Amino acid sequence: MAQNERILTPDWILKETLALQSRAIMEYTSQQNAKKDGDLTLTVLGCGTMGIAILGGILDSLSSADVQGGEKAEDGAEPKRLPKRFNACVRRDASKKRIESELGQYPTFSQLRIWQNDNLEPVKQADIVLLGCKPYMVADILRGNDMAQALKGKLLISICAGVTEQQLAECLPQNTCTIVRAMPNTAAAVRESMTVIATSNPPLPQETNSLVDWIFTRIGKVVHLPPNAMDASTALCGSGPAFCAMMCEGLALGGVAMGIPREEAYLMAAQTMRGTTGLLQSGEHPAILKDKVSTPGGCTVGGLLVLEEHAVKGIVAKAVREATEVASRLGQGQTGVNGTRAK
Ligand SMILES: NC(=O)c1ccc[n+]([C@@H]2O[C@H](COP(=O)([O-])OP(=O)(O)OC[C@H]3O[C@@H](n4cnc5c(N)ncnc54)[C@H](OP(=O)(O)O)[C@@H]3O)[C@@H](O)[C@H]2O)c1
Repeated sequence: MAQNERILTPDWILKETLALQSRAIMEYTSQQNAKKDGDLTLTVLGCGTMGIAILGGILDSLSSADVQGGEKAEDGAEPKRLPKRFNACVRRDASKKRIESELGQYPTFSQLRIWQNDNLEPVKQADIVLLGCKPYMVADILRGNDMAQALKGKLLISICAGVTEQQLAECLPQNTCTIVRAMPNTAAAVRESMTVIATSNPPLPQETNSLVDWIFTRIGKVVHLPPNAMDASTALCGSGPAFCAMMCEGLALGGVAMGIPREEAYLMAAQTMRGTTGLLQSGEHPAILKDKVSTPGGCTVGGLLVLEEHAVKGIVAKAVREATEVASRLGQGQTGVNGTRAK
């Protein structure tokens, strides 16, 4: 080869390199702009039933805020910065399709990106990470390559049942991120969750606290309790819908036994429970409500006598106590707990 001859890089390589470079610049610029505009990015790490319910509540709330020109939280606690960009992480195609079909209806769906088999990049992009995988997957996911680095300095909210804040912290190097444990329930799907948020020690900064409250008030009501109340909260609010469903079944069954058509009986029982809930939430004490509808010598008191005879209130209370104990033992890593419990 003559000395002044140069080997030229083929055009297609140059073009691809330029395209890559320009994509990288665009991505960087959009990330920087995103940071400047003050909006936050929320990544749901494990986006199944609960993740979809929570994202649904948020997307819906943001969509209606757009329409109404405001975004005030129901409870008045309004964080200065809200999550307005979203990532959802799953593995399977079916999970991706489910997210698209359940959340595609919201105008703000365009702000959501679904990632399959890649948790690292969406966590890097996030300000807030909501851990929504199954409890047994937590350690593997948090201990994954470079995950601790991606989580550095961020807010990690776990909704994984039975996984304590300490267990979460043990999966990561010390002081990696702020960890908050929250326990929503299945009624999140209809925005009627009762979510218990474990208080932190030292307390969370006001802005972080408002942000966590804002997220969970999108799907229902929120209370704050110390971490040692989480097992009882899991029993009362997590298992509670199953206990209430059993009461509902009983009410309907009685109606069916007395000749009410099955479909109407279930509708009547559910609406009766809902109406009772409305009265209780408007401030009525359950004992007063019960007395108010029990006319002396009437049918209600006749029915209540049967319930009292079978100590239904005590039995329901014991069910909550038993579920608390089981939740606590499961949290300590015991297996087959129900089988080891005396009656
Ligand atoms: N359901 C409730 O009523 C309820 C109430 C309170 C708390 N919780 C807690 O909420 C959490 C989620 O429950 P869920 O009912 O929503 O479960 P789920 O429907 O099974 O959702 C879990 C999601 O995690 C994804 N996932 C699994 N492994 C992953 C990985 N390595 N990387 C990224 N994504 C992964 C799954 O997608 P692929 O299948 O595609 O991997 C799935 O979409 C649990 O920890 C549970 O204890 C649930």
